Amino acid sequence: MRGKFITFEGCEGSGKSTQLKLLADYLNGLGVDFIMTREPGGSEISEEIRKIILNKNYDKMCDECEALLYAAARIQHLREKIAPALARGTLVICDRYVDSSLAYQGYARGLGAGYVEAINSFALKEFRPDLTVFLDISPAAAFERKHGADTDDRMEMQGLDFHEEVYKGYAQLMGRYARICAVDCSGSKFETAEKIKNLLKEKGII
Ligand code: TYD
Repeated sequence: MRGKFITFEGCEGSGKSTQLKLLADYLNGLGVDFIMTREPGGSEISEEIRKIILNKNYDKMCDECEALLYAAARIQHLREKIAPALARGTLVICDRYVDSSLAYQGYARGLGAGYVEAINSFALKEFRPDLTVFLDISPAAAFERKHGADTDDRMEMQGLDFHEEVYKGYAQLMGRYARICAVDCSGSKFETAEKIKNLLKEKGII
């Protein structure tokens, strides 16, 4: 039987990496057969593409190039890692996936959902997530929590206005796709982790 495919989404500073780590520890404790991977990246070639996309010296990168590079990294990652794991019946948990492209490139960059859907049609048709966990915190609260914008990569360097747009993009996606479930992550990391576990149980994933 095909494994379940779960993706995690959220704005910068939502605590996604911390939650994924806590979830991995929990699943390991349960002895669940799973892999945890990320986008952009997750395979050798896709990690190379990631370096280009996030290089903060590439301020000349146009929005279409950015969207296409995310899509290119995604298809390679899917073919090499996600699809084989799902075929083996393994639970796949991916840190970001096509909804990030829809929210960041489609909505916040203004390329439109149609463009992003077209260049990601392979991912959207054959490899839709069974469940997407959206870690919900307003960008303003997230910025406050991490004391302003980070400067580590090209995307993090975007200001609060851009991240407000990303958040609006996610809100639209939640209205469109029932598979996306918001988890309020304004409380402590342990409270959020509990909510995530409960959601996965409720949805029959674990
Ligand atoms: P990362 O350091 O993994 O960020 P985070 O910890 O917030 O997940 O960098 C990934 C960045 O790329 C992040 O700013 C979101 C952005 N992104 C897109 O704009 N489109 C996409 O399709 C994906 C997968 C990520």
